[in-house]
Amino acid sequence: MRVLGIESSCDETAVAVYDENQGLILDEVYSQQIHQQYGGVVPELASRDHLRKLAQMIIKSLKEKELKWSDVDAVAYTAGPGLAGALMVGACTSQALAFSLGVPAVAVNHLEGHLLAPLLGGEPIRFPFVCLLVSGGHTQFVLVKSIGQYELLGETLDDAVGEAFDKTAKLLGLGYPGGAALEQLAKKGDACRFALPRPMLKKPTLDMSFSGLKTAVLLTVQKHEEQDYADIAACFQSAIVETLVAKCQRALKQTHAKQIVIAGGVAANGQLRQAIATMASKQSASVLYPPIKHCTDNAAMIAFAGYQQIIAGRHPKVDGLIRPRWPLSELSANF
Ligand code: KG4
Ligand code: ZN
Repeated sequence: MRVLGIESSCDETAVAVYDENQGLILDEVYSQQIHQQYGGVVPELASRDHLRKLAQMIIKSLKEKELKWSDVDAVAYTAGPGLAGALMVGACTSQALAFSLGVPAVAVNHLEGHLLAPLLGGEPIRFPFVCLLVSGGHTQFVLVKSIGQYELLGETLDDAVGEAFDKTAKLLGLGYPGGAALEQLAKKGDACRFALPRPMLKKPTLDMSFSGLKTAVLLTVQKHEEQDYADIAACFQSAIVETLVAKCQRALKQTHAKQIVIAGGVAANGQLRQAIATMASKQSASVLYPPIKHCTDNAAMIAFAGYQQIIAGRHPKVDGLIRPRWPLSELSANF
């Protein structure tokens, strides 16, 4: 079976094909450039750019891999969560394509895609595992009991970690999205120079909050000059990493899970990967991350999640093709 995956929930237009025997045989991502000048994603422009790119990207990439339409057995698309207009472009394209090919169209939850991305490499998985999902829009701890069975353990009460990286990067004059650039700048800085808060560590839950840290960074930036920015970046990154590591440790203890998976765009962060690996080894737990290209938004994870849905006979209900707000916990109810 071959599943064509389509991702268009935010500012990446992506197409992939997952083959149940060969794994990924196509994996293309186009990152929209149009938003950089605005310092954030402009939803209307995102939808228009998806519309401009998606259909031709599907045709061109299939052709380049010498794949025929008859090779496609199902079309899996991101139905949510995400920007309504952007999702609609992927949903309509996928539905039309599936209808014309006479194959099923499968609605995939984007968060489930991120969560399953680490499994794409065929690494051994130990259920149940804890997943820290850290992206531009979400920051959650999820207990994955099996594929399709997800329990929300805790989440951010305000900003997502990726959002905090992007807002700090903006204050420091780095482009958008600025997480990766901030990581590079932090390498040149002194992470001990400024005392920034480690939010909600004393609270005995797995909930998090990053808006206070953001304000502390703003005040620090206002009091300093550009030559201090590398130190601010390093201190900010350390505050985030230490907070997440402490919460990951709590999640492992609380659930008795022996594996932790880090997924989502921020899972690309080297300091975070390293620090979680060190903590986990002390707990005799293993850590799994997707390769960097499958941390940020991509269609490989959507094709793979769609394939998993098909073989499990799982059909999440999506009224009206898309669900811009679609909590992961609802998927278990559909299992
Ligand atoms: O998962 P993703 O591609 O999109 C969403 O679904 O939100 O995540 C994008 C986020 C952005 O906020 C970006 O700044 C952040 O991931 N990011 C990073 C790094 N690479 C991407 N944050 C910290 N360090 C990185 N190396
Ligand atoms: Zn994402």
